[in-house]
Amino acid sequence: TPTVLYDSHGRPLEYVRLAVTDRCNLRCFYCMPEEGIQYVPRQELLTYEEMTRLVTLLAGLGVRKVRLTGGEPFVRRGLMGFIEQLTHIHGINDISLTTNGVLTAPHVPELARMGVRAVNLSLDTLDRARFHQITRRDELPQVLDTFYALLAAGIRVKINAVVMDGQNIQDLIPLAELTRDLPVEMRFIEEMPFNGGSHAATLPWNHRRIREHLEQHFGAFTPLPTPVGATASEYSVAGHQGTIGIIAAYSRTFCGTCNRIRLTAEGGVKTCLYDQGVLDIRAMLRGGSSDADIVAALTNAFRYRAANGFEAESQRPLHQLSFESMSTIGG
Ligand code: GTP
Ligand code: 5AD
Ligand code: SF4
Repeated sequence: TPTVLYDSHGRPLEYVRLAVTDRCNLRCFYCMPEEGIQYVPRQELLTYEEMTRLVTLLAGLGVRKVRLTGGEPFVRRGLMGFIEQLTHIHGINDISLTTNGVLTAPHVPELARMGVRAVNLSLDTLDRARFHQITRRDELPQVLDTFYALLAAGIRVKINAVVMDGQNIQDLIPLAELTRDLPVEMRFIEEMPFNGGSHAATLPWNHRRIREHLEQHFGAFTPLPTPVGATASEYSVAGHQGTIGIIAAYSRTFCGTCNRIRLTAEGGVKTCLYDQGVLDIRAMLRGGSSDADIVAALTNAFRYRAANGFEAESQRPLHQLSFESMSTIGG
């Protein structure tokens, strides 16, 4: 088995996030405008064959985990066949998905059969009207179908809710209540100002305030051991089957152990959520680069990445932070 690649700050490369499309069937207001974003033309998306080749090369560098994101992964045709391909790559032992759940339910039995062990479901409220308001689509029932199908199939579910001042604060307790009787991890995420928003100096609901708000209702949480490289701080609640996670996505308390790279839908490599893309792997793939060349480029990109990509970007003159949609980056 290959040894894991480390960057110059001592962080391992273990995890790749693949945005399989930038398209989405919802319009969450913190991610996209109503009219959608300027989608990447289809021929500019990496093909499944190209992504399979890249993941194979990354597995050779020691990557074990692949997360498929988007946009919404299930709006791209042929996704299930691609997942099947990934299951055959030697060295990849953890395939997971982040999905909004609108189109997912019918695929759940097949996902379980293929060995997909964990699915992260984006869900910011359990209230149908507010779901409609936040996502601009009235599709909560489909998402809940997915949630229950995943539980029934024994796939581990984490629910991701972005905490938005003035939008879904009244939903935090009902969402957290799901953990009482269900074996689910309910994760609350600090809102990151993407999509044309400016980078606010302060965040009304940071990870500390989120925790305090929940503890006021549920009593003191017990911190659980957090795996190195995880984004969420995890907690148990006395008497609950599930757990609570809080992701300091904006405060970025976890950059020091960041273990991942990202591939954008159009084949850009990001060594941080906040960098502008450090390598155009699509150009290499389509320009006839050898496996060895691609491995060398990926190794170089990862090895010399910034300690904290957000700060590195902020120091660039005329930086254009926060002008990209999470749908292109893949979250
Ligand atoms: P697990 O694999 O289950 O640990 O999930 P994950 O937290 O890596 O991924 P998920 O797709 O569920 O993302 C949850 C939230 O964390 C999203 O809002 C992501 O944008 C955010 N996030 C994930 N990775 C990073 C990162 O490297 N930096 C920052 N700042 N946020 C991240
Ligand atoms: N801030 C925080 N999280 C976000 N996501 C999308 N946009 C933002 C944002 N602006 C989350 C989604 C999804 C995950 C991949 O990223 O809720 O669960
Ligand atoms: Fe789609 Fe996710 Fe963006 Fe919502 S946050 S519009 S579900 S990509």
